[in-house]
Amino acid sequence: MSRRRLLILAAMSAVLATGALALYDGQQADVALLQRQVSPGRLSAAHASLERNCAACHTPAKSAEGAKCIGCHVGNTALLQRQSTAFHATVGTCRGCHVEHQGLAVRPVTMTHAGLADIGLKSARQDADNETNRRLLAWMRQHDGSRTRTAAHPRVTTREAALDCASCHGTKDRHQSLFGRDCASCHATAAWTIPEFKHPSASSVNCVQCHQAPPSHSMMHFDMVSRNVARRPDARVDQCYQCHQTTSWNDIRGLGWYKHH
Ligand code: HEC
Ligand code: HEC
Ligand code: HEC
Ligand code: HEC
Ligand code: HEC
Ligand code: HEC
Ligand code: HEC
Repeated sequence: MSRRRLLILAAMSAVLATGALALYDGQQADVALLQRQVSPGRLSAAHASLERNCAACHTPAKSAEGAKCIGCHVGNTALLQRQSTAFHATVGTCRGCHVEHQGLAVRPVTMTHAGLADIGLKSARQDADNETNRRLLAWMRQHDGSRTRTAAHPRVTTREAALDCASCHGTKDRHQSLFGRDCASCHATAAWTIPEFKHPSASSVNCVQCHQAPPSHSMMHFDMVSRNVARRPDARVDQCYQCHQTTSWNDIRGLGWYKHH
């Protein structure tokens, strides 16, 4: 913890210890001045209008509370309808992912999968009679700590591995389900790219092991257009390599860039 932050906390508890809790109710005349003295920093632009209203987010003697945030944000349907952020409907805790007091220029959003896992594990502990939760918690105990990794999930910590990636990212699956639901067996949480991945050579004939043909290839379109365009009247659908290159699906072998419509 930085020295500045420690000082701020000390100032904060001094205020609380002297019984000045009413500050948070915004009742007193000098409230704005005192509030600014203990505030760890300017709020984000989105919340700038709350600069003098600490109680909008804070409850006396407690930190910022999820319930207060939810009070203002409960109706965000776009958020709840997006697969990766739908968890907002039940999460309850906002801390760890939504920072504040970092100044006007900083959007109050980060994403930590470890924090998410902590929230999940905490609620699993509160409902430990549930069979699924019991198994999860036993597994976590066995694989201790937040830093270790297992061979099955080499790129995420065991804590992150407690998450069901596909439940939030299934719609981002580039592999048409060919690689299964266990995204963390190959992926990390910081980025979907995998630096050490080298795509098989363009002379591979195994394309179909990792790629699935688009729906158009199982319709008349394949006979009438695709085969004609590629000038491969006899190629079967599963012989992607006969017509495609590895650069782009629109880079047709022997023809070059092709895009109809
Ligand atoms: C828009 C909501 C919001 C408002 C309004 C707000 N805060 Fe905060 N505050 C937060 C959040 C969220 C955190 C936790 C920050 C983090 O984890 O990065 C926090 C953290 C703090 C902390 C650090 C200690 C802790 O609990 O983590 C202090 C002290 C604090 N706020 C004081 C204030 C004061 C004083 C005001 C009024 C001037 C104020 N805050 C207004 C959201 C708010
Ligand atoms: C008094 C009402 C109120 C409270 C309390 C409140 N917010 Fe907000 N918040 C707003 C408004 C208004 C906006 C700006 C318009 C919008 O995005 O809906 C906003 C914006 C946001 C944004 C989007 C910011 C951006 O830059 O895109 C996030 C994230 C957010 N709030 C999270 C929180 C969290 C977490 C808390 C609790 C610590 C909280 N809010 C408390 C009213 C509130
Ligand atoms: C595990 C991390 C995490 C937790 C916990 C979390 N959020 Fe979020 N939240 C996100 C992420 C990631 C986004 C998407 C941000 C983006 O794409 O701009 C988001 C978006 C939002 C937005 C919409 C911002 C916008 O630009 O429209 C609001 C409002 C919000 N969260 C409020 C909350 C509240 C209230 C809580 C607590 C009940 C909460 N969040 C808990 C990670 C989290
Ligand atoms: C409860 C929902 C949830 C779960 C479970 C989850 N994530 Fe995420 N993940 C998010 C959110 C929210 C973001 C922020 C970006 C966004 O809004 O989509 C994100 C971002 C990411 C990103 C970065 C994307 C980018 O380009 O910034 C990667 C990679 C990722 N997650 C991988 C994983 C993996 C691997 C797992 C399983 C170990 C996992 N996630 C589990 C919600 C989740
Ligand atoms: C068997 C290993 C494996 C599994 C399992 C797997 N992927 Fe991938 N994925 C890869 C490889 C390899 C790449 C190519 C990475 C690159 O080009 O850097 C990739 C690429 C991606 C990309 C595009 C990255 C980019 O920006 O170029 C996304 C998105 C993605 N995967 C999502 C998922 C999701 C979601 C899941 C789980 C439902 C999943 N993957 C499961 C191996 C896997
Ligand atoms: C061992 C698995 C594997 C094999 C075999 C394979 N690929 Fe890939 N290919 C991937 C992965 C993983 C990606 C990155 C994720 C994605 O974009 O689908 C990718 C990406 C691509 C892309 C880029 C897609 C885009 O939109 O950017 C093309 C084109 C492609 N492959 C064509 C081929 C062709 C043609 C063959 C056969 C000659 C082939 N691949 C063989 C795994 C494989
Ligand atoms: C007979 C040649 C041929 C074969 C075999 C073939 N394709 Fe294609 N494919 C094409 C042509 C030509 C196009 C572009 C025009 C079109 O849609 O027909 C195309 C388009 C595509 C597209 C882009 C679709 C879009 O809507 O943008 C993808 C993805 C694709 N093919 C994947 C595959 C995969 C995966 C395989 C193997 C499982 C495969 N193709 C086998 C000729 C072929």
